[in-house]
Amino acid sequence: MDERYEKIAESAQALRQRLPAQPDVAVVLRDQLFDVLTQAEQSVCVAYADIPHFPQSTLSRDGRAVFTHLEGRAVLFLCGRFHTYEGFSMWEAAYPVMVLHALGVRRLILTNAAGAVNPAYHVGQIVAVADHLNMVQHSPDTGPNLPQLGERFFDMTNAYSPALRQAAQEAAKEIGLPLEEGVYAFMAGPQYETPAEIRMLRTLGADLVGMSTVPEVIEAAHCGMQTLALSLVSNMAAGVTGAPLSDAEVTREADAASKQIASLLRGVLRRLGNLSD
Ligand code: HPA
Repeated sequence: MDERYEKIAESAQALRQRLPAQPDVAVVLRDQLFDVLTQAEQSVCVAYADIPHFPQSTLSRDGRAVFTHLEGRAVLFLCGRFHTYEGFSMWEAAYPVMVLHALGVRRLILTNAAGAVNPAYHVGQIVAVADHLNMVQHSPDTGPNLPQLGERFFDMTNAYSPALRQAAQEAAKEIGLPLEEGVYAFMAGPQYETPAEIRMLRTLGADLVGMSTVPEVIEAAHCGMQTLALSLVSNMAAGVTGAPLSDAEVTREADAASKQIASLLRGVLRRLGNLSD
């Protein structure tokens, strides 16, 4: 067996031994959103540091996988992710998704904060990602293909699952939340974009810009997982309003929208049982 897959299988096995049941779905999110989403639920927590071969974050808070039951689903939350701007490769950024696949997880929900390239968007709005532009160009699947994960060449047409997007629309309607769909442009960062770069992205058809999510979505498509990505508009992208960007604003807005994203996520989880693959 390819030693890259041996590592993935060992990571999955270590997680499996710690989890009380097979997760139906995995949700990637920030710690703060996790805290809002799950309150008194009983959970089992596995630190990323205790999963062999798992990348270790360079950010201040330690990563962890948390298993809990929510809205009738067995959910594995991944609090903390690996960004290419931290120095992780596309492979490392997508590694948790490979492990989820080896664990038998078939559905993935990703959340992120993004800048609005589309001038009609506003700060605080939640957008379901319908498609992406991989401006970084690299793929987690460069190099010899791992057939345990998927085919050498794979389709990206429905990388953002129409069925899950539909479920998100229904869940949004239920709570009176308008939910636009948009195209997410993946940029390397860590610097925010220049106004000229944002004009370029707009010309290319982007509505949102961010520095995460796309490595995981590519790998989920490779593995044949159904994926939903929800973006919180934390700021208008550079040059859209002329105001300078600040990390403090991005974090503040992401915190402020946590309750809405949490109820949207709960609504999506409730609908998962009725979805076909
Ligand atoms: N650009 C890139 N990434 C981001 C932004 C942005 O404006 N906001 C939040 N993440």
